[in-house]
Amino acid sequence: MKKLICLLLSLLTTIACVPAIAEQESKALVLYFDYSENIDTTGLDVDAISQASMAGTRTRDTSNLLVMVDVLKERTNADIYSLRVADLYAPDFGDMMGPAREQKENNEMLAFQEELPDFSRYDVIYLGTPVWWYGAPQSILTVLQQADFSGKKIVFFGIHRGSGFAGIPEEILSYQPDAVIVDRFTVECQTSNEETRSQFAAFLDLIAW
Ligand SMILES: Cc1cc2nc3c(=O)[nH]c(=O)nc-3n(C[C@H](O)[C@H](O)[C@H](O)COP(=O)(O)O)c2cc1C
Repeated sequence: MKKLICLLLSLLTTIACVPAIAEQESKALVLYFDYSENIDTTGLDVDAISQASMAGTRTRDTSNLLVMVDVLKERTNADIYSLRVADLYAPDFGDMMGPAREQKENNEMLAFQEELPDFSRYDVIYLGTPVWWYGAPQSILTVLQQADFSGKKIVFFGIHRGSGFAGIPEEILSYQPDAVIVDRFTVECQTSNEETRSQFAAFLDLIAW
């Protein structure tokens, strides 16, 4: 009898463990590109670096994209990968807007400072970026053209200065037709960090696949 109880208990424990193991195997990646992390700061003092932002008048202390990455760090077990281009951008918008546009117009394949992650390990990709020239920056487009996101769920999060999502969802699906954008979020870049944090947290609460 004792043996039978032990056997039943061990069977129940095994069954109870199955969903937990399955959940652990579903891996997520936060893949993002942020301008403030891709500035050539050679020769600049700290104040000049902190001024490098399109928003100009600062109603927030840090890039709202980084605020959202922070929320994802707090709320998910996702791995984090920040795209860092090998050829960094000028800190002054007047100097970097033109080259950023040319990269996009010429569809340049950009080099990165580090090897890209092995995307095959992930089921879900939280893809974050600002809108640049009515679509994604060329760093994101480079990845979209080199990676295979087939069958993956993409949760898009972005920042903009009036264009909303612009053409980004279409760009993603044109290069990754077999991925699914399960949900998307964007915030105007001058929204305060605090407001962005609470809106994005509420968005994550609502996501259900
Ligand atoms: C090269 C470049 C192009 C941009 N193009 C657009 C655009 O087409 N539409 C838009 O709403 N915002 C555009 N922006 C504004 C960015 O989306 C804005 O800088 C960002 O949301 C705020 O990020 P930051 O805090 O890193 O500056 C552009 C910014 C840069 C640098």
